[in-house]
Amino acid sequence: MLQATESKNIRLGVNVDHVATLRQARGTAYPDPVAAARIAASAGADSITIHLREDRRHIQDHDVQRMCAQSRVPVNLEMAVTPEMIAIACAVKPRYVCLVPERRAELTTEGGLNVAAHVNAITSACKTLKSAGIEVALFIDADDEQLAATQDTGAPHIEIHTGHYADASGDAQTQELARIAAFAARAHAAGLEVHAGHGLTLENVAPIARIAPVVELNIGHSIIARALLVGFAAAVAEMRDAMLHARHSR
Ligand code: PXP
Repeated sequence: MLQATESKNIRLGVNVDHVATLRQARGTAYPDPVAAARIAASAGADSITIHLREDRRHIQDHDVQRMCAQSRVPVNLEMAVTPEMIAIACAVKPRYVCLVPERRAELTTEGGLNVAAHVNAITSACKTLKSAGIEVALFIDADDEQLAATQDTGAPHIEIHTGHYADASGDAQTQELARIAAFAARAHAAGLEVHAGHGLTLENVAPIARIAPVVELNIGHSIIARALLVGFAAAVAEMRDAMLHARHSR
């Protein structure tokens, strides 16, 4: 029998950061990530992800407030482990927070959180967020040292960083996939709910969607890019179909 956290279904969290990137590029009021979230939810997104970065390069504070107030599907706020971000999350109360590492100069989140090196700060953040009624995930690489440290923090969920898989090709990608699948099984056996994301596209999503313990994928850049060609609702629906097709044909 399937356990509660190892389902035939797999959820799609649509990251709308890059709707805001386009808006910020011109300093206009459009396009609105909250309006995009409405379309994504109608097209089958199970949740909406936004990343409030320290430099506010895309999502702004008012987006977070409006998204949490208006989204009809749960909001997952990605954020760094800083007092500023923890205070914002506790005030706006998204359903989920995913704690991520953040360096100002990076193009995007380039690796997982080093939970092992910051276990006290992360444990304290998890406790504060939990007491505000928020479920926390830690964004980590498929690394057992990070898994052991994650278990010490009390975080109920992890999101496995799939960027190395997405960037690799050939045998290296096959090896990375096997590493992620084995790691997901260990994390699930340890009682954690397992998510994955970063760098996933229509072309590379199926093998990740087939990993049984993975119950949620968070995908942004490729869906927004594809939306330019086929429309946003179609891009969300296509990704969801690709994930579900892979899941059911394993
Ligand atoms: N998951 C996390 C934790 C992320 O930081 C990001 C990027 O913001 C994503 C998923 C989505 O990555 P991508 O935009 O490459 O699909």
